Amino acid sequence: MRRPVFAANWKMNIGPTEARAFMAAFTAKWTPRADRSLIFFPSALSLGTVVHALAGRSDIAVGVQNIWTEDKGAFTGENSAPIAAEAGARYTLVGHSERRHIFGETDEQTAKKCVAAVRAGLTPILCVGELLEEREQGITHDVVLRQLTAGLRELSDETIASMAVAYEPVWAIGTGKNATPEDASAVHRFIRDALIERSGIAGESTAILYGGSVNSTNCASLRAADHVDGLLVGGASLDVDTWARICGT
Ligand code: 13P
Repeated sequence: MRRPVFAANWKMNIGPTEARAFMAAFTAKWTPRADRSLIFFPSALSLGTVVHALAGRSDIAVGVQNIWTEDKGAFTGENSAPIAAEAGARYTLVGHSERRHIFGETDEQTAKKCVAAVRAGLTPILCVGELLEEREQGITHDVVLRQLTAGLRELSDETIASMAVAYEPVWAIGTGKNATPEDASAVHRFIRDALIERSGIAGESTAILYGGSVNSTNCASLRAADHVDGLLVGGASLDVDTWARICGT
């Protein structure tokens, strides 16, 4: 999955009506490009609308923002991976910082969610990243390695080769304070080495995305940074023109 990836995480924004209008405007503006992958992560409630709006646009994929560890049953309010796949999702985020820090998702759960994703035919994008105080304590690598090792624990090397990891420092998410390209490069290099240590040559194929306050001004330098294979974007993906500009970098 080393082709550059541009992933839009809409978080809890954009209902079906707005999603339909967004996709009409975006698909009119965006010409398919073989040299990059685009993925939208809408709210689960808008996922079907986005899938429908993208019929005939095989160049743009859709993912679900979160899944539960079990396939079905009495888990009120949760998203099942097989149901998300049936609804048209091809990817899922796992371990997003908001899941970890607002909803208490554990490393153990991220491991199970990655397994549930693969079982349902969804490609996981495992999100990792340190809190500001962890960075200040100089334990960024320890935190990232712990999250990475736990999340990937049950996965085959083949899966690891075809999935993505997103490095999203928590202090950079939604704050307007992006990591510098040099900071991102250094952590991405560390993640790449850990993936190779874990999975040998397969670890060279995993895409490593950067996320955290990416916007239309900083996207080019972050995209160009060594070891950055793509971008996972929140706020700046909510505007059609801005998002199209970012996808074009
Ligand atoms: P922002 O781009 O809004 O900082 O969000 C990043 C993010 O969490 C993407 O998953």
